[in-house]
Amino acid sequence: MRVEEIKKVCVLGCGNMGSQIALNAAIHGFEVINMDVKEEMVAKASAFKDQYLPGRVQKGRLTEEQAKAAAQRISYTSDLEKAAGGADFVIEAVLERLDLKRQVFRELDRICKPDTILATNSSFIISSKIVDVTKRPEKVCNMHFFNPALVMELVEVVQGPHTSPETANVVMELAKKMGKTPVLLKKEVYGFLVNRILMALMDEATWLADMKVASPEDIDTAVTKALGHPMGPFRLMDLTGIDLHYDIAMELYRDTGDPKHKPSPLIVEKVTKGEFGRKSGKGWYEYKEQK
Ligand code: 3HC
Repeated sequence: MRVEEIKKVCVLGCGNMGSQIALNAAIHGFEVINMDVKEEMVAKASAFKDQYLPGRVQKGRLTEEQAKAAAQRISYTSDLEKAAGGADFVIEAVLERLDLKRQVFRELDRICKPDTILATNSSFIISSKIVDVTKRPEKVCNMHFFNPALVMELVEVVQGPHTSPETANVVMELAKKMGKTPVLLKKEVYGFLVNRILMALMDEATWLADMKVASPEDIDTAVTKALGHPMGPFRLMDLTGIDLHYDIAMELYRDTGDPKHKPSPLIVEKVTKGEFGRKSGKGWYEYKEQK
């Protein structure tokens, strides 16, 4: 398959990542179906599109015509067969549970055309752990976007031992057509590039807060003002989800056995209390309206 042949993109999952990946693809000219099993998530993603596109026009980032065309190119559904049936390319962005992803890929392999590429946006699950449920291993890989996916430019393309060079190349080119800057990882490593680097920063920040050296607010101030990061590590954990941070840390810890990856007691406490960040209304900071 050549990248020019990719017209229809299916994005599974209407959560924060899925809905933004889908909308970004529609803005960049692809016909997109965004699917979720939960009707309320489907409605939420569609409402986000209705609010986001006029906002871009107001800010002068899109013309009225571009926004209208993007809106016409994207649709939402809770029907997997309808979403994946005609797709040339699928990006899975469902919950970060291995059993769920395996079930989804098994279904996709049955529903999709034989040459459709199946990519997972997982933050930490390598496609080697999923691929055996499909009959198209050479067409399976990781395609990892960053939060917020409409804004962040990087996409990590991770080539598993089963992924053909042709597929990796198509995914790299597709990311470019979606306005992103892709990097290719030629080997599967847990956490890929960015999350491994980010976890080191977040872990150190959390241990410093745990030792009561400084408050999360002051550590965030230190990182933004000294290192020039747009957000400090605690504010960023609230954006991406403290529960996700915990899951990635545990995966790295299990994989490497290295105690440096063990989540700090403060992270465990947050997860136990259900204080996951913006999505739960409270994390390291409180969020009155932004859920
Ligand atoms: N959704 C969509 N667009 C958003 C947004 C959101 N949630 N938040 C901000 N934006 C857009 C704004 O509309 C604005 O667009 P414009 O310049 O074209 O008008 C632009 O981003 C800048 O927004 P603001 O001026 O309101 O705010 P900031 O300048 O503070 O930027 C930010 C917000 C882009 C989130 C910035 O703080 C940032 O880059 N933070 C770091 C994010 C980051 O590190 N992400 C990677 C996380 S790791 C990850 O995702 C991996 C995963 O596996 C966990």
